Amino acid sequence: MGLNCAIDGPSGAGKSTIAKTLAKKLGFVYVDTGALYRSIGLYVSRLGCDTKSADEVTPLLKDIKVELRYVDGAQRVILNGEDVSDLIRTPEISMAASNVSAIPAVRDFLLDLQRDIAAKNDIIMDGRDIGTVILPNAEVKIFMTASAEERARRRFEELKAKGQDVDYGEILKDINQRDYNDSHRETAPLLKAVDAVELDTTSMSIDEVVEKIENLIVSAKAEEDRGFKTIPAFRRWFYAIVRFIAAIPFYIAFNIRYEGLENRPEHGSVILAGNHRTWFDPILIAIKVKYISSYMAKSELFDNFLLKYVIMAVHGFPTRRNSADVSALGLAEKYIRNGYNLTIFPEGTRSKDGKIGRAKSGVAYIASTCGVPVYPVGISYKGHLCFRRKITVRFGKPIMPEDLNIASVTKTELRGAGERIMERIAKLVEQDA
Ligand code: DC
Repeated sequence: MGLNCAIDGPSGAGKSTIAKTLAKKLGFVYVDTGALYRSIGLYVSRLGCDTKSADEVTPLLKDIKVELRYVDGAQRVILNGEDVSDLIRTPEISMAASNVSAIPAVRDFLLDLQRDIAAKNDIIMDGRDIGTVILPNAEVKIFMTASAEERARRRFEELKAKGQDVDYGEILKDINQRDYNDSHRETAPLLKAVDAVELDTTSMSIDEVVEKIENLIVSAKAEEDRGFKTIPAFRRWFYAIVRFIAAIPFYIAFNIRYEGLENRPEHGSVILAGNHRTWFDPILIAIKVKYISSYMAKSELFDNFLLKYVIMAVHGFPTRRNSADVSALGLAEKYIRNGYNLTIFPEGTRSKDGKIGRAKSGVAYIASTCGVPVYPVGISYKGHLCFRRKITVRFGKPIMPEDLNIASVTKTELRGAGERIMERIAKLVEQDA
């Protein structure tokens, strides 16, 4: 899999110029997704059909085959065998593309094509919904804007240079109309992904914008290259020894039974999410997961000087429980991107009676932004926790990031995904009841 850079933004913000320059400089493939919508706009217009009508456009899709080819590094769009790369660059087709792009069937039709290209290459993909829908796990996400007047001026110069007879007022009107269409449609509207870096290019030069994004890509690539192999050996050994020693008193004090061990993760960069039943849950999970993990722990524990260092030694970091702790989320992401697992208790607080609480949104947020699976773990015991009490720790099958159904990382989506994760954990607990 390659590194994915998503550049979204309104028409004429400079996305394609910047993306092309960057792709050439870094040896990435540039994917102009607007061209795909344009080719469908062209096909529908040629037949004289209404580009706004889902009823007229949807049945035509089965007759359309769009491909992207690369000739000397430049993208060419092939519509049913015909190279339409130049024909799709007129103002009429721009509007037709904007119209057909609001039709959900058209967006579905183009989804896999875009994802397939991204899966195979290092790419820079520009569009409207790349960071939110097409590649929600892109390593670098940019939301590029510029004032409508500046964008109209740029497009005017570009078309004039190509010898086209154009009117600035008309272009500005078109841009405003397309902005409105693209941001008000129901399916995948133009939206900044929460984790995208916003760049207003109104008064930036091309070189400045290129340099800014290039830096982001280079550091993302460096992070990716670091991977789990670079976790120093002494850390892994230290962790293994601490894990072994910490387990001994618990094996003596309790009758710990493990189930579903075949479901355990075999390597790093996953999330282990359990219900929170005892204060030593992290140890109960760590005993059977060999791979090194980081831990999210409540910030109060860090008030104790000694405990603080013990927790930090095993890659624990503090999180404030009653607010969205952005720095904790950032640290969690960092650990995952560096190849560690993350062990987390999504409810935030320990359950005294064994009932499963609601998940905070952090777990779903981290899983979706890092694109890693969540391994559910159910911890249960009956009655009071006393000497030799039987404690069952059950590992469940992983929940893949795509099964969390997070498209645009909204609060509602995160809450829904959190509920699904807790349901899976609850199933692992309920079997004891
Ligand atoms: O980027 P462009 O101007 O070539 O795009 C043409 C139209 O296609 C634009 O008005 C919105 C639509 N589009 C889209 O909805 N989603 C994309 N990923 C790319 C383009």
